[in-house]
Amino acid sequence: MSTYGTLFRVTTYGESHCASVGAIIDGCPPGLQLSAEDIQIQLNRRRPGQSDLTTPRNEKDAVQLQSGIEQGVTLGTPIGLFIRNEDQRPHDYSETDLYPRPSHADYTYLEKYGIKASSGGGRSSARETIGRVAAGAIAEKYLRLAHRVEIVAFVSSVGKIHLPTTVESTNEEGDEAAEPLSQEFRNLLSTVTRSTVDQHPTRCPHPETAERMKQRIIRAKDASDSIGGTVTCVVRNLPPGLGEPVFDKLEALLAHAMLSIPATKGFEIGSGFRGTEVPGSQHNDAFVQREDGSLGTQTNWSGGIQGGISNGEDVYFRVAFKPPATISKAQTTAKYDGESGTLAARGRHDPCVVPRAVPIVEAMTAIVLMDALLVQKSRAAAASLLPPITTLPPTMVMPQKARESGRVE
Ligand SMILES: Cc1cc2nc3c(=O)[nH]c(=O)nc-3n(C[C@H](O)[C@H](O)[C@H](O)COP(=O)(O)O)c2cc1C
Repeated sequence: MSTYGTLFRVTTYGESHCASVGAIIDGCPPGLQLSAEDIQIQLNRRRPGQSDLTTPRNEKDAVQLQSGIEQGVTLGTPIGLFIRNEDQRPHDYSETDLYPRPSHADYTYLEKYGIKASSGGGRSSARETIGRVAAGAIAEKYLRLAHRVEIVAFVSSVGKIHLPTTVESTNEEGDEAAEPLSQEFRNLLSTVTRSTVDQHPTRCPHPETAERMKQRIIRAKDASDSIGGTVTCVVRNLPPGLGEPVFDKLEALLAHAMLSIPATKGFEIGSGFRGTEVPGSQHNDAFVQREDGSLGTQTNWSGGIQGGISNGEDVYFRVAFKPPATISKAQTTAKYDGESGTLAARGRHDPCVVPRAVPIVEAMTAIVLMDALLVQKSRAAAASLLPPITTLPPTMVMPQKARESGRVE
């Protein structure tokens, strides 16, 4: 269905060539100062036509706040967000009317519904993600004001061109593989900002790599082809305790949200697949006491989540995006009626989606974290209404926090 979330519920609507796209957000706390500009900033980063690396479809994607806000403050009631589709060109797709596009959603939508939008990707188009980005900007504003949470995503690879993330293994036969992610990459995770990410049209914050990525995308475009890539996202200042311990582990919720973005093919958190190459003695995140007396970890191969619950360290993960399916290079494939033919798709398409996927990844991250925060806060608020218990053995409570909350003497 088109709704995500338990307490912060986001419903998106719209197709590629209908009158408008948007979202309804239910469960946003009242009293949040919110302007159209707070949302527009992220919509502008997602817009098509930002550079010669993206589709030339010309959309302003100007958001209109329809409900749930008065005097620039949320009312706690559903927030309606409306964005007009202005540059529809259904006729661009006349050739693909005959063919289900290979690796797109035309065939599966028809199988599922028995009917589909007459042109373009319909609901499978990345136009749908506008509602997510708008909703994510609201979630993000709350998280920032309430907990100083920072969410920054960036392009970490295009084709085979990667940011310097790993250290070459010195001993591939033994257990002495290098650290899963280089110190340089870890420094980047703790310092990267949206303004450095936006300095290059690829949204890769490493200038030399960014330039090589740009050339790779241009090469794909010039060949009427496309290319994939990865987006890495880091979340700083996330409070501990978010995420549920079994089916709704925080990393499972993030994986679900990320893999719901069109064109995604993979998700890894923390040390990810490279973490499998080192022994536990290297991979364990030893605890240390922080200046404020709380426990932190010396390393963060867990990616800020243990047992499905945030531990207060930075959360970081990587999402894989495939090369977009619609290419104007001729492909031999079959028509809807089964006859073999050659499809060279017309229309306006992204040769590589990752530069525009960056704000979408940030938005889905914010939506997941906002929902998880509201779930945890409601549990804690309900627990706080109970009379304190002073008889619990010390092994059942966190010493410092328990003292603060008055639960042990
Ligand atoms: C920002 C963004 C832009 C996209 N642009 C295109 C595009 O121009 N052409 C295309 O074929 N797919 C594009 N896609 C991907 C399709 O929407 C997606 O591949 C399609 O819905 C099929 O879904 P699937 O790849 O998840 O199986 C884009 C995805 C994103 C996130």
